[in-house]
Amino acid sequence: MTTTKTGAEQLDHFFSTSAARMDRWRELNAKAQAWAASPQGDGRAAVEEALAAVGTIEDFFAYPGPRLMKTLQERISGGDALGVGRLVRRMSGSLLSGSYRYESSEWEPADDGVQNIPDRSPSVMESGEARRPYFETLFVSAAPAANRARIAQEIRRLRRVEDEMVYEPVLVGSLEDAITATILNGKIEAVVIYDGIPIPSQHDVPLLRDFLTTYQQLDTKSLAPRDVGITLARLIKRIRPELDIYLLTDREVEKLAGDPAASMIRRVFYEVEELMEVHLNILEGVADRFSTPHFDNLKHYVSRPISTFHALPIARGKSIIKSNWIRDMGEFYGLNLFLAETSATTGGLDSMLEPTGTIKVAQEKFARAIGADQVFFVTNGTSTSNKMVYQAVTKPGDIVIADRNCHKSHHYGMVLSGAQPLYVEAFPMTEYSMYGAVPLRTIKQALLNLKAEGRLDRVVMLTLTNCTFDGHVYHTRRVMEECLAIKPDLIFLWDEAWFGFARWSPLLRPRTGLGAAAALEEWKKTPAALAAYLAQVTELGDDLDPKDPRLLKRRLVPDPRKMRVRVYETTSVHKSMSCLRQGSIVAVRDEDYAHHASAFREAVFIHASTSPNAQIIASLDVARRQMELEGYELVMRAIEISLAIRREIAAHPIISKYFHMLGADAMVPAEFRPSGFKDFLTPGTNWLVAQKAMQEDEFFLDPTRMTLVCGTAGFDGTSFKNLLASKYNVQLNKTSRNSVLLQSNINNTRSDVAMLIKVLLEVSMEIEGRLAEGGDSERTRFAARVKNLMEDVPNLPNFSRFDDRYREDPDSITLEGDMRTAFFAAYEENDCEYIPLSSKLIDERLAKGPELVSANFVIPYPPGFPIMVPGQVIEADTIEFMRKLDVKEIHGYNNARGLKLIKPSKIVHHTNGKGTASKPKHKKQTRSHALRR
Ligand SMILES: Cc1ncc(COP(=O)(O)O)c(C=O)c1O
Repeated sequence: MTTTKTGAEQLDHFFSTSAARMDRWRELNAKAQAWAASPQGDGRAAVEEALAAVGTIEDFFAYPGPRLMKTLQERISGGDALGVGRLVRRMSGSLLSGSYRYESSEWEPADDGVQNIPDRSPSVMESGEARRPYFETLFVSAAPAANRARIAQEIRRLRRVEDEMVYEPVLVGSLEDAITATILNGKIEAVVIYDGIPIPSQHDVPLLRDFLTTYQQLDTKSLAPRDVGITLARLIKRIRPELDIYLLTDREVEKLAGDPAASMIRRVFYEVEELMEVHLNILEGVADRFSTPHFDNLKHYVSRPISTFHALPIARGKSIIKSNWIRDMGEFYGLNLFLAETSATTGGLDSMLEPTGTIKVAQEKFARAIGADQVFFVTNGTSTSNKMVYQAVTKPGDIVIADRNCHKSHHYGMVLSGAQPLYVEAFPMTEYSMYGAVPLRTIKQALLNLKAEGRLDRVVMLTLTNCTFDGHVYHTRRVMEECLAIKPDLIFLWDEAWFGFARWSPLLRPRTGLGAAAALEEWKKTPAALAAYLAQVTELGDDLDPKDPRLLKRRLVPDPRKMRVRVYETTSVHKSMSCLRQGSIVAVRDEDYAHHASAFREAVFIHASTSPNAQIIASLDVARRQMELEGYELVMRAIEISLAIRREIAAHPIISKYFHMLGADAMVPAEFRPSGFKDFLTPGTNWLVAQKAMQEDEFFLDPTRMTLVCGTAGFDGTSFKNLLASKYNVQLNKTSRNSVLLQSNINNTRSDVAMLIKVLLEVSMEIEGRLAEGGDSERTRFAARVKNLMEDVPNLPNFSRFDDRYREDPDSITLEGDMRTAFFAAYEENDCEYIPLSSKLIDERLAKGPELVSANFVIPYPPGFPIMVPGQVIEADTIEFMRKLDVKEIHGYNNARGLKLIKPSKIVHHTNGKGTASKPKHKKQTRSHALRR
């Protein structure tokens, strides 16, 4: 292929590359077929133009490769329209179906399939059933481009019949090209770097250069040639940490291998050493990611003849397959499901409660894959993972700062452990009846208030949902840095139930809890970290004054010598990866984990079933394998799909009249977007603009989570969701009063986009027709409905406060409370009362007292967060919100009996964490709202 300069659009416009690549091949194919159908016509120019558009990007992929592209060029030059048509059809078909990965004939220029394949190894890429996994290996060397075909051929000759996998080489000649290939080509699994490579690409890649200098601090001028290889390895690892990197050098390999700066390199080879060693290592590295110890073990177990003489009749499936009445279950699921149902923890199958064998190894592999120190498998969803973390790291009387809007498992986790929640509020998005995320300023204020009141030592943990249901992603690093500046040993529980996939996106990874933890650990060892802290000390002193107003306005720097990186991340693997329902993990990266190790074992014993499902565990193992090998590509595609949906809806003349997708500018107030990022679709937005937002903005919108406003089409969220499910078989995620949440994931294809657009068009056309036919009255009715949904929205109530009975110091500024005591107080029915929501008594009590104190959690769906928690004083705005909320499903509220309240006269003895009971006080709260938040 040529190395001429091409448009920046083409090479380093990294958003949507794989879809755009396929589109260009489809276009080329259409043009080639048109020319073939009419060889005498002027189709050749169109083919040449379409081929130019396919362009230089192909240099970074093994298929079709230089040989096929050369043949194509020759046929075009020779005017062979029919030959061009045949070849392009085959090439584009092979690319789309992926058949080039196992059909060696696809690589052949000759149209009639495999003849002799002089420069490939015919014996190893067989067609048909015996498919070996295929991948590509990037070779980065300074060898002249003219030699690359020969080098590639030498590499192919290393293949052996025994190899369990097969790879094709992709050859590039510079650091910039290697980075480009790493970003563009998701099939690359390993990288071999020859020392002495140049830095600049011969292509025009201004965005990439900007990215490397601005965001990766690559200083090309001061980089010594001998450091280019290691620098490249470091950069590649930041983009795709899962790749194996090998360095070939003629320097002292022993020294390099022992250099911590080269620790990201899997092996260093002496350049003239046997290339076969490199080949074997490449295969071994990928095989290590491929191996799924627990899943493999389960498959092995299934294949053994085993008789069971204990419980679990479903095991081995005989009671099903032989049954007159339930055989269809066996037919539906297939026998393997039952063969793999086992309660055995012997015979090598290992125990999830105390793993020592394959489950242990599978957990270790998962930890490595996501950058954690340890991972615990959980077979009852992140609901249980969260409770396990509370159980293990908090105890009665500890304070946990929590987003009130967090998943109910956190609230219940605190009921179980006795930790006291100090709720902080997310910014409201009242017009859509939902919440955003919690501003860092609010969190800092909470910590500073506790410091001012002398209770900072009681704060153990901060928990936040990242990303939120609606896609708000925290600046995890900044949150941790600033909190650690106030409380250096604070634990962070990042609930990443929805965000597990983000690990495999270089754009999103730094914003995960673990991604930020890795960056913080690296940062705190640098001289710059201490210098930044000492500079802050000269300004603010070394003991921050909680009353100093500057603390809320500036970015606080923690003391790198004192801070501890203590991160727990919980992830519903089943929500974003190929894992069976309920498969979840707790990931740990806690420098002080030793304090909690035994408590964690207890937490596993308390919460894990003694009959964990072997299939779920196996699917956790397999999901990890998939993500380590193709997660990058799949996540990139999920993001592309979401961008395509956004683009199509915005551009469609009819759909856009009734529906619109909320951009970052609508989802995140401007004060939290200092980069000025508006939306992925804003003209001029490219991945570098998104990178800047990712780096600077307090909240970033996860592109895969799309809020579609349907109130403007006259639908409330729930009705619209039901309509799509019942009439069109389209399933959506959550709803709000006037919107629905769509989510793209690694399972979606572009056909799904087409389907969704078709459905939205049909619904829009139906509205158009109705409005046209119904005349003025219908239009007035429609406008009123839209206004009701979009404008007459209830205000979102903030958390009020706990009743004084559940507060150790009702006079304190901070509002943490003993929710557990309130929770159990409600078990005494005689101490509770019920008042219907519509009753006038509620209004009277609100006006004159005594105060209404909730006996339990009340959680309406949507929006799905608790508007009341046990012990909370219910205020007028909460009642107004509930009355206005026209939803059917309200957990914790019994419509027949009304609100369950703890009677005012109830006397409680609550524990304050020190084992003493404190007396109820009933002082009126006089603090300002700003102070509380
Ligand atoms: C933020 C958050 N955390 C935790 C959970 C619970 O996860 P699971 O369904 O895996 O139990 C959910 C479920 O929706 C959630 O949204």
